[in-house]
Amino acid sequence: MHRPENLEVDEVEVTFDPSRFDVDAIHRFLVGAYWSAGIPRAVLTRAIAGSLCVGALTNGAQVGFARLVTDRATFAYLADVFVLPEHRGKGVSRKMLEALFAHRDVQGLRRMMLATRDAHDLYARFGFTPLGSPSRFMEAHKPDVYSASHEA
Ligand SMILES: CC(C)(COP(=O)(O)OP(=O)(O)OC[C@H]1O[C@@H](n2cnc3c(N)ncnc32)[C@H](O)[C@@H]1OP(=O)(O)O)[C@@H](O)C(=O)NCCC(=O)NCCS
Repeated sequence: MHRPENLEVDEVEVTFDPSRFDVDAIHRFLVGAYWSAGIPRAVLTRAIAGSLCVGALTNGAQVGFARLVTDRATFAYLADVFVLPEHRGKGVSRKMLEALFAHRDVQGLRRMMLATRDAHDLYARFGFTPLGSPSRFMEAHKPDVYSASHEA
């Protein structure tokens, strides 16, 4: 049964079917996002093909996206989570992430990770915490790797 306060959330459809994603819309957002600035469309297409992705659609139009980089057995890295500005604050990301973490291919993983500048509270609701042992983790980070093809 629909409760009035849920109407807007209920209009959002969550899908794992990449053929229903609007890659141009996803690229339009991610090419300007602080964590993926300048990402070439071809790189995004490869990333989607190699990940478990979820899309949020309203009337068939892409309004949100999230990507889980995973071996579907032991580990996953959550990336590229966004909801378009006009659709925020209505539970869209919560709905996408609930569906993603409930997906049968990512049950029983030993570890999931993510990086975020300011959305810690959102992910805390799904059991994410700050690193327990930061000194054990290392990274090879190339934040400027897309800048050569920024005009593309
Ligand atoms: C972060 C973002 C995905 C949240 O999407 P959203 O659909 O507006 O979030 P929801 O309405 O589903 O909110 C779910 C819960 O998380 C909380 N939340 C949402 N965004 C938050 C943020 N930036 N920081 C802290 N908490 C946040 C909400 O208060 C809500 O709490 P509740 O369950 O108690 O009501 C969206 O604001 C966005 O796209 N931001 C720009 C891109 C970005 O920063 N992505 C995250 C990169 S790590």
